[in-house]
Amino acid sequence: GVAAVTVAAGARRVARRATQDELKKQVGYKAVDDYVKSGTVIGLGTGSTAAFAVERVGQLLKSGELKDIIAIPTSIRTKEQAESLGIPLATLDTHSDLDVAIDGADEVDPNLNLVKGGGGALFREKIVEMCAKKFIVIVDESKMCGGLGPGFPIPVEIVPFCHEHTMREIAKLPALAGCKPVLRLGDVANNKPDGDKPAVTDNSNYIVDLVFETPIKDAVAAGEQLKNTVGVVDHGLFTGMTTACIIAGSDGISVKE
Ligand code: 5RP
Repeated sequence: GVAAVTVAAGARRVARRATQDELKKQVGYKAVDDYVKSGTVIGLGTGSTAAFAVERVGQLLKSGELKDIIAIPTSIRTKEQAESLGIPLATLDTHSDLDVAIDGADEVDPNLNLVKGGGGALFREKIVEMCAKKFIVIVDESKMCGGLGPGFPIPVEIVPFCHEHTMREIAKLPALAGCKPVLRLGDVANNKPDGDKPAVTDNSNYIVDLVFETPIKDAVAAGEQLKNTVGVVDHGLFTGMTTACIIAGSDGISVKE
């Protein structure tokens, strides 16, 4: 009957549609295949999408298709993954000119401005990705948005000392009007409250997630005001940094520049 036909059609649709993990793998692999050349210094991002790019670098080094890569990881987690794959690593202290950096994002707006830090790694991501000639962002289509803020809270890394005071100061910033600062609890890589102790970053700081109901009007001003707040280490607004964004959707892969 009608129900059986509907179920069969639904099953066909499911079979054709790549899972979110498959989409992340497609963009992770494509970014490495298209942008990483032998003999270069590369930045390795953090998160479930970036992990596929790291995996691909490891594969190509092992097969000999890539040679003489030096990689700068953006978190302890990424460092450990890269080490396990035999990827040669360095830091910005010895290698501060990167040819390319590849990373995921939590939200991407129409101008390719980003929210990052869902995985709590925003400070190391920013300091590394600012040093890259090309910054390649890899996302599945669920990360694309019309304006930053309401779709994903904006993470801010703050010093633990008097953090409640710093959170009140952040709430007063004019470019962030209406935001609700929430201290991240539990595992730093999980921006859902899942514990009763503050989450601690790789840099021994806390993360505050700024919850918005409407899109922020001026992401550049918001970033500047956060940066000028004593107690703030850095924030998850990455504006004017993206070279290209590789987006995987149910209809295939597209690149926005
Ligand atoms: C970590 C990040 C990640 O790039 C961002 O959270 C996206 O992660 P995922 O690919 O797992 O969705 O900014 O600090």
